[in-house]
Amino acid sequence: MKTITLLAQKGGTGETILSIHLATAAANRRYSVLTVDIDPQGSSFFWSQRRQRGFPGVVKYSIRELRKNMATIAREVDLMILDTPSHSSRGAGDVVSLLDFVLIPSRLTIHDSVKLVCEKGKSGAIVLNCCPPPGLFDETALVREACLALEVYKMPVSPVAISQRAAFSLALIDGRAVTEFEKKGKAAGEIKTLWGWIKKELANGEQSSINVVAC
Ligand SMILES: Nc1ncnc2c1ncn2[C@@H]1O[C@H](COP(=O)(O)OP(=O)(O)OP(=O)(O)O)[C@@H](O)[C@H]1O
Ligand SMILES: [Mg+2]
Repeated sequence: MKTITLLAQKGGTGETILSIHLATAAANRRYSVLTVDIDPQGSSFFWSQRRQRGFPGVVKYSIRELRKNMATIAREVDLMILDTPSHSSRGAGDVVSLLDFVLIPSRLTIHDSVKLVCEKGKSGAIVLNCCPPPGLFDETALVREACLALEVYKMPVSPVAISQRAAFSLALIDGRAVTEFEKKGKAAGEIKTLWGWIKKELANGEQSSINVVAC
């Protein structure tokens, strides 16, 4: 089983949006995927309750329950995606120790998140979220500058930046993902590209950690 963990220093940076969309993208590609929501807010879990479809599976666990059920989950699914509370919360270090692949959403204040991942001996990569949409031919100067600034962390940066788009919020209202809300929309295209990139990173085995950065 591969795992992708979304972890952030601050709340509201996109952990839930990205958990939901990566899980749906993987499930649509016939992956057996389970999202484990360990945020007491339960946003991913509530999304699944509004949803008319049986996939991706979403369960709500405490960190303790997750530890207890980890071996069973590993036997039953190909991919586990973990939506976590902000990482100032207790137990974040435990979660990072437990899992393979960490995504850290943040509004360009990723220092602590990156530090935590590095301290736990996990490698990392960065995905920009909530970016201004690219122009006709290229990404915006802000995204280019953000990518340059991120070089200091010596972690790979995803070739696709996720833009701030209304579709990401609208799709969730009735339990959909952007790939179902506007199949051929730009938001769907970004998620598919991001999932394709993460899948390759997971497959090459050495990459065990992803950081998601909102700008
Ligand atoms: N790329 C995006 N485009 C538009 N809106 C976005 C995007 N990413 C996140 N949002 C919005 O930002 C808000 C916070 O996103 P989300 O709930 O995913 O963050 P979170 O890190 O899980 O927050 P929390 O700490 O409360 O769990 C939501 O209203 C979400 O719809
Ligand atoms: Mg959340």
